Amino acid sequence: MIFDYILEYLNLQSCLIGIFIFLLLIDIIKNKNPSNFPPGPMPLPFVGNVFTELDFKTIDKLAEEYGEVFSLRWGSEKAVFISGYKLVKEALVTQLDNFTERPVVPLFHKVFKGLGVALSNGYLWKNQRKFAITHLRYIGEGKKSLELSIQQESNFLCDAFKAEQGPFDPQFYLYNAVSNIISALVFGHRFEYHDEKFLNVLRLEAETVILSGSTKAQLYNAFPRLFEYLPGPHQKMFSNYAKILDFLRDELRKHKEDWDPSDPRDFIDNYLVEMEKKKSDPEAGFNLETLLIAMLDMFEAGTETASTTIRWGLLCMMKYPDIQKKVQDEIDRVIGQSRQPSMADKPNMPYTDAVVHEIQRFGNAVPLGFPKMACKDTTLGGYFIPKGTSVTTNLSSVLKDKTMWETPEKFNPGHFLDDQGQFIKKDAFLPFSAGRRACLGEQLARMELFLFFTFLLQRFTFSPGPEEKLSLDGQLGFTYAPQPFRMVAVLR
Ligand code: HEM
Repeated sequence: MIFDYILEYLNLQSCLIGIFIFLLLIDIIKNKNPSNFPPGPMPLPFVGNVFTELDFKTIDKLAEEYGEVFSLRWGSEKAVFISGYKLVKEALVTQLDNFTERPVVPLFHKVFKGLGVALSNGYLWKNQRKFAITHLRYIGEGKKSLELSIQQESNFLCDAFKAEQGPFDPQFYLYNAVSNIISALVFGHRFEYHDEKFLNVLRLEAETVILSGSTKAQLYNAFPRLFEYLPGPHQKMFSNYAKILDFLRDELRKHKEDWDPSDPRDFIDNYLVEMEKKKSDPEAGFNLETLLIAMLDMFEAGTETASTTIRWGLLCMMKYPDIQKKVQDEIDRVIGQSRQPSMADKPNMPYTDAVVHEIQRFGNAVPLGFPKMACKDTTLGGYFIPKGTSVTTNLSSVLKDKTMWETPEKFNPGHFLDDQGQFIKKDAFLPFSAGRRACLGEQLARMELFLFFTFLLQRFTFSPGPEEKLSLDGQLGFTYAPQPFRMVAVLR
C-alpha cells in the first residue's frame, strides 16, 4: 500500500520534472541568440532579465561589464543597449536608416496604439511627423509668435514666483508654464496656474512619467496578457492616461463646435483641415483618433522634458551661486533690466548660452531617449542585431562620455566655451538625440530653455530654502528629474 503510494508520488513528481525540463528546453531553443548577438547578463529561464532595473545608472554599469553593445531579455523580447558617443552616433547618424522604427512597448502601446508621432511607424509616422513639424514651426507668424508666446508666459511665471511668500517648490509652476506654450500652439489658449482641472492633468502626467520608469511597471512589458488582470503601477498608468485623454477629448470637442475651416487658429484646426484633404488616403492616418494621440504626444514629450531641464537649471544655479552671478552679470551687461530677453540676445551671451547647454548635458533629462527598433538585419560595434530587435541608445553615456568631456560628472559651463570665452558647439551634445527620429520639438525646446532661464535670472536671485539640502542626485525613471526642492526667489 505504502509502496504503491510512493510509486504514484514519484510518478507524479517525475512527470512534473519532465514537463519542466521540456518547457525549459523549448524556452532555451526559442530564445537562443543568433551567432554574434551582443552579450549580456545571464537571463533567468522563462522570465529573462525582468528583474534588471532599466534606469540609466544600471545600464551604465552593465555597459562597463559587458561592453558598449550588450543585450537583455524580458520574457522572449530581446533588447540591445548601445552606449558611448562613437557607437551611439554610428547608430543614429551613420546607420540612420537602420534604426528608424519604434518597437511595440506594451505599456505604451495599450494607450498610443502605434498612432500619433512618437510611437508610430512607417507611412503614418512620416505623414504625422511632417505635419507636426510644419505646424509647430509655422503656426501664427512662425518663430516670432512662438518667441512672443514664451515671453508672455515668462511674465506670468515671474508674477507667480513674486507672489510666493517664502520658500516654495517651483515644479508645477514650471510644468504649467512650459505646457502652456504647447497648449497655445495646440489648443490656441493657455491655462491659469491655479486652474485645478488643468493642474490635475499635469499631476496625472507627472505621476505617469514616474510610474512608467518603475521596474514593476516593466513587468507588464514582459507579460502583458498576464499582468493585464493583475494590480500594479501599470493599472494606475492606464487610468491616468484615460483621464488625460478625456481632458484632450473635451478640448477637441470645443474646437469642433466653433471650427471655421477657412480660418485655422491652431494645431487642432489645421489638423481638422488636413483630415478633409487626406480623406482619400486613410493610411496617412489623419483622423480624430490619431489627432488625440498626436496631442498626447506633444504634451508628454514637450512638457516633462523641458520643465525638468529648467528645474535642473534652477537647482544648479543655487548649488553654484558664483555661476548664477556670472550669468546675471552677462544679462545685466547685454540686456539690462528695462526689457525682456529675446532670441536675438543669444549670440551676444556666450556664457549664458554655455550654462544653458551645460544644464542640459548635466541634467540629462531623457537619459535613454526613446527605444527604437532595427528595421533590417544590421551589424553594430562588430555585433549582429537582427531585424525587429529593440535598440536603446544610451544618450546619458554620450553626455557623460569620458573621451568627449573634460569633467563629465561635474557641472562645468567651460565645456561649451573656448579660450576666448566664446560659445563652442560640441559633437557629443545629443540631449535631443539625432537622426530621423530626433526630437521634433528641439527648436521650440531650445527657445523655451534660453528664454525662460534668462528671464528668471534677470528678475530673481535663487537660493535654497532654510534647512534645504540640495542634492544633485536625481530621481531615476523614464526621465531623470531633480528631487523636489524648495527655493527662495528674491527679486533683483
Ligand atoms: C528639453 C526638452 C526636450 C528634450 C531633452 C527632448 C528629448 C527628446 C528625445 C531624446 C527624443 C527621442 C529621440 C529618438 O528616439 O532618437 C524626443 C522625441 C520627441 N520629442 Fe522631444 N525633447 C524635448 C522637448 C520636446 C518638445 C518641447 C516637444 C514638443 C513638440 C517634443 C516632441 C517630441 C516628439 C513628438 C518626439 C518623437 C519624435 C519621433 O518619434 O519622430 N520634445 N525628444
